[in-house]
Amino acid sequence: MAYSVPKLTDYSAPALAAAVGECIRACAIEAAAVRNDAELKAFRDRWIGRKNGILPQINELWLKGAPKGAKRDAGIRVNELKAQIQELVEGAHVARENADSAAAERVDISLPGVRRPIGAEHPVVKTTNEMVRVFQKLGYSVAEGPVVETDYYNFESLNFPPNHPARDTQDTLFIAGQQSKPQRERLLLRTHTSPVQIRTMETMRPPIRIVIPGTVHRNDPPDASHSPMFHQIEGLAVDTNITFGDLKGTLDHAMKEFFGSNVKTSFRPSFFPFTEPSAEMFVSCFICGGSGKRDGSAPCRPCKQTGWIEVLGCGMVDPNVFEFVKDNGYDPKKVSGFAFGMGIDRLALLKYGVDDLQYFFQGDVRFLQQFG
Ligand code: PHE
Repeated sequence: MAYSVPKLTDYSAPALAAAVGECIRACAIEAAAVRNDAELKAFRDRWIGRKNGILPQINELWLKGAPKGAKRDAGIRVNELKAQIQELVEGAHVARENADSAAAERVDISLPGVRRPIGAEHPVVKTTNEMVRVFQKLGYSVAEGPVVETDYYNFESLNFPPNHPARDTQDTLFIAGQQSKPQRERLLLRTHTSPVQIRTMETMRPPIRIVIPGTVHRNDPPDASHSPMFHQIEGLAVDTNITFGDLKGTLDHAMKEFFGSNVKTSFRPSFFPFTEPSAEMFVSCFICGGSGKRDGSAPCRPCKQTGWIEVLGCGMVDPNVFEFVKDNGYDPKKVSGFAFGMGIDRLALLKYGVDDLQYFFQGDVRFLQQFG
């Protein structure tokens, strides 16, 4: 039964105390039952509302109806009661506010989650991984090295003596402010992944078979087939009795794995200071099938109508290179090896039929999404 204000007939102290106690208990119970803002308003109006609130009723029924001699005591009691009721109403307010903020902080597990679109491998990364996997299946391991390299590793230990003209072909980007250092310690952005050949041979004894993917830089203005930053995969195999036949067989196999078994390879003599003999390897253009023409008559651009595309430089490791790591088991009289360096971006371009290298580096999601 909801509390209603009783008429008082007995104004003795115990009777007053009992009536006040009953009223406060009823108010406390109702305060605790408040669940939402509407109930809070109803509770407040019922107890302290100016028109029909319980407090005004108590004023009316208990004070005005009090016999003369009891008025003072009843007044004191009723004032105490009012203070307590006010406190209960106030408390109900605070409790509601706290409940609201707790609710705001609560995690609603029924809400849909935040959608984060899944990214895709960048075509250059994808190509790198595919090619690295081809060599891993042949027993090669993966090595890496620094992009900011010293003159020693990028040039000197690869048999480019200081002032050798072969250095000019690499369009090197040098780090500024290095002039006070001896030349071999000066820093530059590596122009190829070949320095990691030496770095690896310094720490691993033969036999070794490694591939080295990485970023390289050259001072080339960006265009459809050049970029000042590009990617290479270096390869190095050193053992006893490694021959040029091993080099050809390995690279021919790798290209067939990567492009498909129809692809043909061709080796043409070339020059690199760190390999002797050296070669450039070409693959038959699989866009025009080696004919140099597309759709029967249109000139094939990727192979410049030659039917062949150059994909890498390679050769037998020059004995002069082994001299730099002789103490770690690389006696040029006992070991031999081959090395190669391929341009990954070029391979990705060919494999995916992309006609401008710059797409790879512009970060345009519309382009990259196609590889997802
Ligand atoms: N480092 C050479 C280049 O960037 C490629 C190469 C690697 C050639 C290994 C021979 C052996 O052009």
